[in-house]
Amino acid sequence: MRSDAEVARYLYEEPLSPEQTRDSLARKMAATQWTSEGDWLGAAVVERASGLTVGDVALHWLSERDRTAEIGFIFDPRWQGNGYATEAARTLIDWAFTAAGIHRVIGRTEARNGASERVLQKLGMRREAHLVENEWVKGEWQSELVYAVLDREWASARP
Ligand SMILES: CC(C)(COP(=O)(O)OP(=O)(O)OC[C@H]1O[C@@H](n2cnc3c(N)ncnc32)[C@H](O)[C@@H]1OP(=O)(O)O)[C@@H](O)C(=O)NCCC(=O)NCCS
Repeated sequence: MRSDAEVARYLYEEPLSPEQTRDSLARKMAATQWTSEGDWLGAAVVERASGLTVGDVALHWLSERDRTAEIGFIFDPRWQGNGYATEAARTLIDWAFTAAGIHRVIGRTEARNGASERVLQKLGMRREAHLVENEWVKGEWQSELVYAVLDREWASARP
């Protein structure tokens, strides 16, 4: 999944080699603490029927003072389009609001990344910004969409 050029198209990193993937996975697996700003909580997503790992979702604690976290997701192209990213992200956002005391969850995506934007919309997040050519990534100017949802909005959408 991490070596696939299409998957990496709108990520900051280029496709990873097997060694880089191993290092990245080891770092993710070591990140099991949620104790202070900057921490990550990653979850491998396993398809129940096949028992295969099909993607991963991650929550990044951006600010302790502002109780803000960011959601991210990457799925294997062979299992995309089944609603898995939305389902997995929803579970992690639920955890952020109910167990971790987070007030605001954001999601950022490159403006051309239609699938990623659609997941943020399906999660019920609000589009708050379209930053135009705000980042120089992989030899080009890229534009960024910022989506967000608050704890009270999340709770009221799920009575
Ligand atoms: C973004 C990503 C995680 C979505 O995973 P997924 O499991 O396919 O997500 P879901 O099935 O929950 O939802 C995908 C939605 O995007 C839609 N979609 C797919 N390609 C699209 C496109 N080019 N433009 C607009 N919508 C698109 C699907 O139709 C679906 O919406 P629907 O349920 O209304 O039909 C996956 O495409 C991916 O891994 N992309 C590469 C990595 C990446 O860019 N991650 C995000 C970084 S910000």
